[in-house]
Amino acid sequence: MVKDIFAHHRSQWKTHIGFLLAAIGSAIGLGNIWRFPYLCYKDGGGAFLIPYFIALFVVGVPLMILEIGLGHKMRGSSPASFASIGRKWEWLGWWQVIFVMFGIVLYYSVVISWCFNFFFYSFKLGWGPDPNTFFFKKFLMVSKGPFDLGDLRTPILFCLLLVWFFNWLIVFSGVQKGLERANKIFMPILLLLTAFIVLWSIGLPGALKGIAVYLKPDFSRLKDIKVWVDAFGQIFFTLSLGFGIMVAYASYLPKKSQIVRDSFIITVVNCVFSVFAGFGVFSILGYMANSTSKAFSDVVSQSIGLAFVAYPKAISMLPAFQKEFGLIFFGILVIAGLSSAISILEAFTSAIIDKFHYSRKVVVSILSIAGFLGSIIFVTQAGMYWLDIVDHFLTQYGLVIVAIFECIVVGWIYKAAKLREHINHYSLWHINKWWWDISVKIVTPMVLVMLLVSSLIEEFSKPYGGYPWIAIIVIGRDWLIYTLFFAVIVSSHSWKTDPRHRMISLE
Ligand code: PFF
Repeated sequence: MVKDIFAHHRSQWKTHIGFLLAAIGSAIGLGNIWRFPYLCYKDGGGAFLIPYFIALFVVGVPLMILEIGLGHKMRGSSPASFASIGRKWEWLGWWQVIFVMFGIVLYYSVVISWCFNFFFYSFKLGWGPDPNTFFFKKFLMVSKGPFDLGDLRTPILFCLLLVWFFNWLIVFSGVQKGLERANKIFMPILLLLTAFIVLWSIGLPGALKGIAVYLKPDFSRLKDIKVWVDAFGQIFFTLSLGFGIMVAYASYLPKKSQIVRDSFIITVVNCVFSVFAGFGVFSILGYMANSTSKAFSDVVSQSIGLAFVAYPKAISMLPAFQKEFGLIFFGILVIAGLSSAISILEAFTSAIIDKFHYSRKVVVSILSIAGFLGSIIFVTQAGMYWLDIVDHFLTQYGLVIVAIFECIVVGWIYKAAKLREHINHYSLWHINKWWWDISVKIVTPMVLVMLLVSSLIEEFSKPYGGYPWIAIIVIGRDWLIYTLFFAVIVSSHSWKTDPRHRMISLE
C-alpha cells in the first residue's frame, strides 16, 4: 500500500461540475465547429457518422476512461503518472504535453487569433463582398510556398497577444479560481449561443437543402480508408485524447469520483455538440446556395474556408442582423478555442510543477511567453502552409503513436485489470473485463496500428498536400522528432520526490 501523502497538498476542483465543464471545455473546441462539419461534407455526409461513432465507442470512450482513471489513480500530470508506472515510460507523458503545447497549440492559438480578428471585422462586415480574396490575399496574404515567409501579419499578431494573455490569466489564477471559474462562465455561454445560432439558421429559407447535403449518406465513401482515418483522427482531436490533458484534469479529482460516468458524459456531450453545430453550419450554407443558386462545392473547398470564407459570405447575405450573427458566430469560436487552449497550458504547467516544484505563477508566465513567441512562425505569410503541415503530422501521427503507447503501457505493463479495479472501486458504473480490458489491450491498439500503417502508405505514395518533400520533412516530421528529443531529455532528469508517492491506493 502506498501512503496517500499528497492527497491534501494537491489542489482540487471545487465542484464536480467544475471538473466536468473544464473537461468538456477542453474537448469542445475549434475542431467541433470548423473541422467536423467539413469532414462530414467531404466524407460521405450522414454516412460519415458511422465511422465517427464507431471510432467514438471503439477508441474514444475506452481511452477517455483510461486517461481519467490514470490521472485519478496516480494523482499527477501525464509525465508524473507514467513515471509512477515506470521511470522508463516518463518520456511518453512529456512527449505528449510537449508536442501538443509546442505544436498543436502554437497554431491553434493563431487560428483563435483569426477568429478574434473576424469577430472585430463583424462590426462592419469588414470582409467585404469577396471574402475569399479578403481572407487569403488581404488578411493572410498567403505567400508562394512554405519557405517564403514574407512579413508578419500585424492584425494576427495583435490578437495573438490577446489570446496568450487570456491563456496566461486563466491558468495563472489556478485550478479553482482560473480554470474552473472560466469554464463555468464559458461553457453555459457557449452552449446557449450555439443553440441560439443553430435555431436561427434552421429557420432561414433553403436551410433544409443544406441539411440534406449534411446528412444525405453516401455509403460508397465508406470503402475509402481515408474516411476512416479522418474519423478516428477527429475523435482524438475533438476529445483531446492523447494530449495528456484529461490525465492532468483528473488528477485534481477527489477520491470519490465517477470516472466511468464522467467519461461517458464528456465524450457524448462533445460529439452531440458537433453534430448539433453541424446543423447550423449547413443550414446557413443551404440558405446561401438557395439565394445565389450556386452549388455548395463552390464555397466549401477546405475546412479553413468553411469558417473564414463560406461563413462570412453567408453572413453578409442575411436579410437582417448580419453583424449580430457574425459577432455571435466568431464569439463562439473564440470561446470554444480558448477553453481548449487553456487546458493544455494547464497540463504542461502541472507537469513541470509535479517534477520540478517551481511556482505555478512563474511556470505559467514563462510558458505563455514561450507559447506566444513560438506561435509567431504561424503569423508569417507562410503561416497557413506551416499550420497545414504541422497539423497533419501531429494529429495523424503524433496523437496516434502516443495513444498506441498509452494502451500498451497501461494495458500490458501496468495492467488494465489493475486500473479497472481502481476505477470500479470508486465508480457507480462499472466497466468489465470483456469490454474495457480487451479494448485497451487489443482492439484499440490494433485499430490504431492499422490506421498508422495506412496513413504511412498514403504518405509515401505522394507528398502531403502537394508540398515539396523537403518542407514536409523539415516542418512536419522533424517537429515530431525534436519534441521527442526534448521529452527524453526532460524525463532523464531526476525527481525531487518519488512520483509514486502520489498514488491513491484502495483502502
Ligand atoms: N479538442 C479540441 C478541439 O476539438 O478543437 C482540440 C484541442 C486543441 C484541445 C488544443 C486542446 C488543445 F490544447
